[in-house]
Amino acid sequence: MNTLRKRVKKVASMDELKDHTLMQHKKKIVNGVYIKSEEQIEGIRRAGELVGRTLKMLGEMVKPGIKTEEINRACHEYTLDHGAIPAPLNYNGFPKSVCVSVNEVVCHGIPGNYVLQDGDLVNIDVTSILNGYYADSNFTFYCGAVDEVSKKLTEVTFESLVKGIEQIFPDNHLSNIGFKIQKHAEKRGYSVVRDYTGHGVGLEFHEPPTVLHYGRPNRGVKLMPGMVFTVEPMINLGGWETVLDKKDGWTVRTKDGRRSAQFEHSCLVTQNGVEILTWHPELWKGIPRTMTGTSR
Ligand code: MF3
Ligand code: CO
Ligand code: CO
Repeated sequence: MNTLRKRVKKVASMDELKDHTLMQHKKKIVNGVYIKSEEQIEGIRRAGELVGRTLKMLGEMVKPGIKTEEINRACHEYTLDHGAIPAPLNYNGFPKSVCVSVNEVVCHGIPGNYVLQDGDLVNIDVTSILNGYYADSNFTFYCGAVDEVSKKLTEVTFESLVKGIEQIFPDNHLSNIGFKIQKHAEKRGYSVVRDYTGHGVGLEFHEPPTVLHYGRPNRGVKLMPGMVFTVEPMINLGGWETVLDKKDGWTVRTKDGRRSAQFEHSCLVTQNGVEILTWHPELWKGIPRTMTGTSR
């Protein structure tokens, strides 16, 4: 049996384990949102560190001439080598271990035979399950020399994520995250994708609450220490509308065919602010790992 087949077999048996592990999690629920225990937070933190290192490693592969399938394979092997499971594989039938979304692909791109071209915007979205705990993060990388318009889009998308994360502190309304993201992006002439959102994460891949990247301030759920959720704005050069690929059932593209960028972090609400659980010192050097204080 070759290595790939051995690994596939290993994943199949780990997949059964995964369901078993999930049932062991004790769930404390407040207003429909899981409040994680210290032990669970430590588990998600460890998964997040691995996701950070995985994204950093995969980002270094982004160069003209490489196939997106090579990124998938590297993600798959690196994840297994570190004792974890790639969450996308077999998730609702998703066929690969990572999402790779290029240019006008908004999210959920399936890696395959596409060869990266000079100037491509390449988003890589990694979710790993370590000891039953999930962490989810994505980053948009430049393939070779990217044009100024695409660079500006990517920079503003990164800033939008930061604006959203700055709104994470106890007693603030969840909706202020999306409000600030939308304000930042639209002021600069971009649009915010409505059809896909952030989500609770940690004990499952997608948990409550739904985290909108647009909307009105001071509505709905109030943040509480122990909540863990993603912020993952998808920002478009043109309109916000998306189209789902009818053939593969996964690939999401902008309706107008113009480019889209995205960044994602898994974030913990702390006693006085936020801890970014998927942070990595070199990949995310523009943002601190934790934020506190009243300057917001
Ligand atoms: N990682 C994506 C998210 O941010 C979800 C991918 S689902 C998959 O929520 F099946 F496409 F992997
Ligand atoms: Co996510
Ligand atoms: Co993700």
